[in-house]
Amino acid sequence: MRRTITAAAGLAVLVLGTHPSKADGIGNPARGLEYAKANCAGCHAILKDEIESSPNPDSPAFAAVAATPGITRTALSVFLQSPHPTMPNLIVAGEDADNLIAYILSLKIPAETMPN
Ligand code: HEC
Repeated sequence: MRRTITAAAGLAVLVLGTHPSKADGIGNPARGLEYAKANCAGCHAILKDEIESSPNPDSPAFAAVAATPGITRTALSVFLQSPHPTMPNLIVAGEDADNLIAYILSLKIPAETMPN
């Protein structure tokens, strides 16, 4: 029994490791969600099924951001490092940015079939 479990875990690692999923291995989506709850949820809807319910109506829901064609790690990274009119002091960099981007990209559904 133990052998079987170990083999299954090994297989899962193998499959996840080689599968061309949306995750590129950078950043921790769970931490990104925590960061978003603390810093972004005042304006943006941040959860997966909240497409049109941002507290601030001018702020796109993260799920909508993720669904935007052409949204990539690079695009989000550039965006988060630039101040812009509505979020003048909001610059996210380093590990926080990696985690946030991993979280936002994880909202793409279904990731494998989205054009990138
Ligand atoms: C004070 C309200 C407010 C907060 C807090 C806020 N945002 Fe925004 N955000 C906006 C508004 C309004 C827009 C849309 C207008 C614009 O792009 O200038 C926006 C746009 C964006 C966009 C661009 C979406 C697109 O498709 O162009 C991203 C990505 C984003 N915010 C991420 C974040 C993240 C990540 C956080 C938390 C670290 C955050 N925002 C916190 C108000 C806010």
